[in-house]
Amino acid sequence: MTQLSVNINKIATIRNARGGNTPNVCQVALDCERFGAQGITVHPRPDERHIRVTDVWELKSILKTEFNIEGYPAPAFINLVKSVKPHQVTLVPDPPEALTSSAGWDTVTHLEFLKEVVADFQAEGIRVSVFVDTNLKNIEYAALTGTDRVELYTEPYATNYPIDREKAVAPFVEAAKLAKNLGLGLNAGHDLSLENLAYFHTMIPWIEEVSIGHALISDAIYFGLDDTIKRYKKQLE
Ligand code: PXP
Repeated sequence: MTQLSVNINKIATIRNARGGNTPNVCQVALDCERFGAQGITVHPRPDERHIRVTDVWELKSILKTEFNIEGYPAPAFINLVKSVKPHQVTLVPDPPEALTSSAGWDTVTHLEFLKEVVADFQAEGIRVSVFVDTNLKNIEYAALTGTDRVELYTEPYATNYPIDREKAVAPFVEAAKLAKNLGLGLNAGHDLSLENLAYFHTMIPWIEEVSIGHALISDAIYFGLDDTIKRYKKQLE
């Protein structure tokens, strides 16, 4: 069964716009769980423009489902994740000032660095996922890092879906098959939505987890959070 992890960065962005505690990030996370989400994802950035370090600690103490922390493995991020000990850490290669993650790792170039970081987290009992595109070489080298899973960067799929969904998904199916053959677990995320999620899941049903933020929180404006989460879960049946 594919798990839905809700990325709640956007909730923190709205909260931070006014400096108070509305909406309450932790309460929203608990409500996501109550409405059926099987995990919560956050991306604490060095400038704390959405999720703050204090959010990460508070979430760790209250969440009952899978906690996934994503980010660039700079020393401060590594120390935070190793102290908080979430179920999973997702390593993304984005620089601190990036608006959002916009590429997977070049695992060939960064093999030795990733090997070290992956082993460091695994020694603390934290499952590791490495964010990658569909370049097969990057998947092959991701396996050499020792990571438990890879997360496929789905933005190109989402962008091309309305033009030709079969063509859009083809490289992802190939990459997902290679990951499976290499013994890697599989996650996916970025720009997945109610429009494109079901087809992606039908074509790659062995995905373990999708992490979805922007579209899901946007849909919640119209459908409400409870209904929206149920709609996303229905796409994964
Ligand atoms: N996966 C990773 C690694 C991400 O960085 C993000 C964005 O924070 C997502 C998934 C979720 O993307 P979206 O907000 O487009 O659903």
